[in-house]
Amino acid sequence: MLNWEDPLATFASRTPPPPFPVPVAEPTPAPYNPRPAPAAAGPGGATGLESIELGAKRIQVDDKRIINCRADLNQLVPFKYKWAWQKYLDACANHWMPQEINMNADIALWKSQDRLTPDERMIIKRNLGFFSTADSLVANNLVLAVYRHITNPECRQYLLRQAFEEALHTHAYQYVVESLAMDEGEVFNMYRELPAVARKAEWALPFTRSLGDPQFHTGTPEADQRLLRDLIAFYVIFEGIFFYVGFTQILSMGRRNKMTGTAEQFQYILRDESMHMNFGIDVINQIKLENPHLWSPSFQQEMLQTIREAVEIEIQYAYDTMPRGVLGLNAPMFEDYLKFIANRRCAQIGLPEQYPGAGNPFPWMSEILDLKKEKNFFETRVTEYQTGGALNWD
Ligand SMILES: [Fe+2]
Ligand SMILES: [Fe+2]
Repeated sequence: MLNWEDPLATFASRTPPPPFPVPVAEPTPAPYNPRPAPAAAGPGGATGLESIELGAKRIQVDDKRIINCRADLNQLVPFKYKWAWQKYLDACANHWMPQEINMNADIALWKSQDRLTPDERMIIKRNLGFFSTADSLVANNLVLAVYRHITNPECRQYLLRQAFEEALHTHAYQYVVESLAMDEGEVFNMYRELPAVARKAEWALPFTRSLGDPQFHTGTPEADQRLLRDLIAFYVIFEGIFFYVGFTQILSMGRRNKMTGTAEQFQYILRDESMHMNFGIDVINQIKLENPHLWSPSFQQEMLQTIREAVEIEIQYAYDTMPRGVLGLNAPMFEDYLKFIANRRCAQIGLPEQYPGAGNPFPWMSEILDLKKEKNFFETRVTEYQTGGALNWD
């Protein structure tokens, strides 16, 4: 019987058990590693799919970098880039869905014979034609090209949110097309039929293709500059310049009490897009800070040239969508506006302004988009959305 007071005494008094057979020494098991981790030895940064290294030390904030980082990408924290996490939170607080916007007034107006002019109809159709495929192109660039090379989990968290928002935007255009009973093939195939719409997508595709190549890895100055080029092409130019003629045209319509549902969809989209652009600018500037050798004088010249070329393409889009004055707008006003915007974009990434004296002919767009205030501009709207209200036109 066991002596609970002194179990050792009891054990000591027991007859020793018969000896066990001498165990055969087993080889030490290899660490769990179902397949080698080529990324750890290859170029570029971590992907998040590397084998799990048991016993690896915990991540320190200083291990983290936006590109070419080897720290585990499956661990969101500790945060290093708090601006990226904050933008993720802000984006989630701005959540909206296209079908929550009432399209009845638009449906009646679109069906009417005489309440929209042919020029106004052209603006609506061509912008739906451009945006309906442009947002898919942006999403594909994010998912198939950019995401793999951004080696920071809090930035990736925002990219995942952005990718969903791009899906929402494509959904919004589809919802407008369906609501208005438009010919969906005509709208969605427009970028393969109408040069004005094709030109912008054609301009952007080589940037994303360059990164989407499975053989492409960052890690050399040339490759890292390829990534920077794509980020500038998509965040600063595609979302930051190529969207602005269309946004202004459709929001002008809403201000004149026409196609207010469609305009409201665009206003929500514009709010998302301005955050996408600001996130991209923060990423670009952080990469510059961590890799100053990439921002060489010749690279800066190349980017300035690229921005100037994009401004010309978007000015052409203004003429193609608006051959005559309409809604108090005309194409020459957009020349000024696009140069004004391009100056802002250059300044935001640390390049000299290219169009001295360019003015803003659409101060009402600034009220919506004032780059200094935009983070807070929609706060009242967010509350309205969260309580089930909708955007108001004032
Ligand atoms: Fe979008
Ligand atoms: Fe976007």
